[in-house]
Amino acid sequence: MRFDEKTIVVTGGALGIGQAACLLLAERGGAVSIIDWDENAGNAACEQIKAAGGKAIFSKADVSDAASVDEAVARTVSEFGGINSLIVSAGIQRYGTAVSTTEEQWDEVLGVNLKGAWNAARSVIPHLMKAGGGSIVNVSSVQALASQQNVLAYTVSKHALLGLTRSIAMDFAKDGIRANAVCPGTVDTPMLQWAASLDPDPQSVYAACNQMHPLGRIAQPREIAEVALFLAHESASFVTGSIWTADGGLLTQIGGVPQTS
Ligand SMILES: NC(=O)c1ccc[n+]([C@@H]2O[C@H](COP(=O)([O-])OP(=O)(O)OC[C@H]3O[C@@H](n4cnc5c(N)ncnc54)[C@H](O)[C@@H]3O)[C@@H](O)[C@H]2O)c1
Repeated sequence: MRFDEKTIVVTGGALGIGQAACLLLAERGGAVSIIDWDENAGNAACEQIKAAGGKAIFSKADVSDAASVDEAVARTVSEFGGINSLIVSAGIQRYGTAVSTTEEQWDEVLGVNLKGAWNAARSVIPHLMKAGGGSIVNVSSVQALASQQNVLAYTVSKHALLGLTRSIAMDFAKDGIRANAVCPGTVDTPMLQWAASLDPDPQSVYAACNQMHPLGRIAQPREIAEVALFLAHESASFVTGSIWTADGGLLTQIGGVPQTS
């Protein structure tokens, strides 16, 4: 899967799954526009790509702020001449129930995970149309299809992200724009490291996460990035409005052991 002559915007491209997607895209010939609010990590990812001979720019932006996303997208077009794909990986996790979640947490999580994805799509779609079509991949979660305890705002945002994905797929199919979502299980990224650090025994969190996936382990960021790249690429030219799990079998298992004798 080559991305020569293609420009891909990646929100949350500084770290984790987004960073893995940026590195793979650049290795495969794509020009990458990293949008992230982490300036140090964003610059480092950009320099890593350029040192390996790839094409990349980094723009600091908070995806929940439409104006800063518009600015980064405009810069992408002026540097690279257009946009062919968008991968939305910027996301945050906060913990709480319908009672304990604060209004600030709700606004923060929905602002980044959902409005951030809308802001990016709204800004990029006119450029995909100018290019005669393109693709959008939203990184959602298994928590778009099921839930856990104490993750209200996150699970709401990830469920809603599927609605955003399907709406874009319907509204812009006529323009040759495809929109799909990836739903990862647990992935070894700074987000997971942060979540594990909240536990007095972080290693026990990793052990539990490994054990809950039928494949017996969590994913590496590159394994999720590969799925996102496939959906972004023209190899997936008849795939739109779809929801792809990449979860090591997590959502497939019912649990329990059937009686065989
Ligand atoms: N790690 C997992 O286990 C896992 C599982 C399922 C889904 N996901 C989803 O995958 C996506 C990527 O997660 P990750 O694990 O790579 O997370 P991460 O924290 O490692 O990376 C997320 C990136 O998004 C950036 N970001 C966060 N808020 C931002 C904002 N407001 N504006 C701009 N940039 C912002 C961060 O700086 C970071 O570079 C997220 O949407 C997450 O919800 C992660």
